[in-house]
Amino acid sequence: MWWDKENMPPCHLREDCVAIKGKHCQYTCRHYHTSKETYKISNLPPKAISELILVPENCDLSIYEACDGYKKNIHEHIAKGDGLYLHSNTKGNGKTSWAFKIMKHYLNWCSQNYGIDYKVRGYYVNVSELFDLLRNSFGEKAGTIKEIEKGIYEADLVIFDDIGFEKSTDWVKNKLYNYINYRYQNNKSMLFTSNLSLKELSTQLDDRISDRISEICRPLHFKGQSRRQQDRWWEE
Ligand SMILES: Nc1ncnc2c1ncn2[C@@H]1O[C@H](COP(=O)(O)OP(=O)(O)OP(=O)(O)O)[C@@H](O)[C@H]1O
Ligand SMILES: [Mg+2]
Repeated sequence: MWWDKENMPPCHLREDCVAIKGKHCQYTCRHYHTSKETYKISNLPPKAISELILVPENCDLSIYEACDGYKKNIHEHIAKGDGLYLHSNTKGNGKTSWAFKIMKHYLNWCSQNYGIDYKVRGYYVNVSELFDLLRNSFGEKAGTIKEIEKGIYEADLVIFDDIGFEKSTDWVKNKLYNYINYRYQNNKSMLFTSNLSLKELSTQLDDRISDRISEICRPLHFKGQSRRQQDRWWEE
């Protein structure tokens, strides 16, 4: 079965594809099937998978350049365990979208270079969902937590989305500390997004966590306005 441009499957690779080069896509394409598996393991939500064109406001030009620079040199950063801390007290100005963009770039490269080996290349965690799960992590939820922990411990790159938002018990915070500390000690890269600066994170969450993040993650402060209102499907 052949696909043409009008009849394409929702392939994750799209513009990053090395195989397409003007030819038709094919159902038997190994890159298509590998990327499907790599994305499935990554726990990225469907919103991450649709195409993300991000246009910066002037005040965020240098931040976007820094994110793009990190993305382009992703292998170097992953080899060293470097990460980013994307933060802003304004909501909706592209922090999570940038984390998705960087992760997808890495997953696309892995899909095309490693084949299907079922290794966790990248993993996405929403911190408040994780806290919820941890609070109820007994009985049938135990399996889900084990799966998430596998992702957090094994992946080359992990996104911790929306860190600092949640209030929780010391036990749950300590679990998060253990995850982050494990990655920190093993030089494994992390991308964080937050509505708090690192200083605020240290008082609101745990200074052991913010201290480690500040050593290995470059803080990038997004200053633009929220774009969520522009994304409404209805007109007013
Ligand atoms: N620079 C941009 N250009 C175009 N669309 C954008 C841009 N930044 C954000 N958006 C869109 O705005 C919406 C919100 O973006 P995103 O989730 O990345 O924000 P966020 O900074 O993570 O917000 P929050 O602080 O609430 O978590 C998304 O639909 C995204 O595609
Ligand atoms: Mg976000």
